[in-house]
Amino acid sequence: MPNPGRPFPRRSSAEGALHVLLLTTGSVASVKAPLIVKELLNYENTLVQVVSTKPSMHFFDAAKLEEDNLAVGVKVWRDEDEWATWDRMGDPVLHIELRRWADVVLLAPCSANTLAKLAAGLCDNLLTSLLRALTPETPKHLFPAMNTFMYLHPHTASHLCTAEELGWQVGSPEAKALACGDVGMGAMMDWRDICLLVAERYARRRRVGVEEVPRKVPLKDGVTAAPTEEAERMGEAGVKVCGG
Ligand SMILES: Cc1cc2nc3c(=O)[nH]c(=O)nc-3n(C[C@H](O)[C@H](O)[C@H](O)COP(=O)(O)O)c2cc1C
Repeated sequence: MPNPGRPFPRRSSAEGALHVLLLTTGSVASVKAPLIVKELLNYENTLVQVVSTKPSMHFFDAAKLEEDNLAVGVKVWRDEDEWATWDRMGDPVLHIELRRWADVVLLAPCSANTLAKLAAGLCDNLLTSLLRALTPETPKHLFPAMNTFMYLHPHTASHLCTAEELGWQVGSPEAKALACGDVGMGAMMDWRDICLLVAERYARRRRVGVEEVPRKVPLKDGVTAAPTEEAERMGEAGVKVCGG
């Protein structure tokens, strides 16, 4: 029986599985969390746990996600769990246990707020405490998702630069019509590409008999969406990370 994820996700050195910790924040792109979890579990020897901020949980049904993946012990960890599971000195501390469990961390989607907290080192909830507790060796990928004007704000370039210096690999957002109605850069990298990135980078084989998820359009220079002309124009303003 795979790790049930309750009350703590414990490591078992015998299982040899890749432990993917998906962190979701208060971007509308959190609606993709159930799809990301489902798709990652289509790969052999892959386990997933989820940590979500309060705003993120407006965008998907955490109870349903857990129920759909009960057999593989997926749990959506939230702020309340941190304190519900700690009573006295010597008890395990959830954000540390989750950090120990993770082989790879995906911050997808990463909101402007959490990005700013990450860059500043703030840790005022379960997710950001975990971020702050990560070791430099843990592979970490960050996928910004925000309104175009938030993305083009000078803070974003500066915060992404700091994130890269801290060892985060930043997945470029896409230019397209956003959920808020604006058109331009800022949409999270396509969820299928995020899963593909994990599968390729960490050498995961697709389960036998599980069909490939159809892509929207073929990869073109790392861009998956077919951006509108206006989106492309706005995207040209771009964000230069670390003076690159
Ligand atoms: C409907 C709605 C959609 C939002 N979408 C985004 C978004 O895509 N990106 C973003 O950075 N913030 C977005 N926000 C704002 C964040 O939810 C807000 O900044 C929140 O404080 C983020 O908290 P967190 O980083 O702890 O999850 C949205 C807010 C609402 C109400």
